[in-house]
Amino acid sequence: MVRILHWSIVFSIVVAYLTAYYRYWYITQTEGANWTLLVVHINFGLLVLILILSFIMFVSRYCLSKMGAKTLSPNKV
Ligand code: HEM
Repeated sequence: MVRILHWSIVFSIVVAYLTAYYRYWYITQTEGANWTLLVVHINFGLLVLILILSFIMFVSRYCLSKMGAKTLSPNKV
C-alpha cells in the first residue's frame, strides 16, 4: 500500500510538471488545449497534496501500531 501511494505521488508530480511546462513551451494562450492542460495540472497538483497527506497518515499509523505492539505486548510484561 505504501509503495502504491509512493509511486502515485511520483507519477502525479511528474504529470503536474509535464502539463505545466508543456503549456509554457508549446501552447499559446488562444488554444483550447491551454485550458485543458491547466485543469489537468491543477487536478494533479491537488492530487499530490491529498496523496502526500494520505502517505503521512498511513505511515504514522503503521509506525504507531508497531510501537504499540512492542510496548503493550502481554508477552513482554
Ligand atoms: C506538485 C504539485 C505542483 C507542481 C509540481 C506544479 C508546478 C508548476 C510549475 C513548474 C509551473 C510554472 C510553469 C510556467 O513556468 O509557466 C506552474 C504553474 C501554475 N500552476 Fe502549478 N504545480 C503544482 C500544483 C498546482 C496546484 C495545486 C495548482 C492550483 C491549485 C496549480 C496552479 C498553477 C497555475 C494557475 C499556474 C500558472 C499557469 C500560467 O502561468 O498560465 N499548480 N505549476
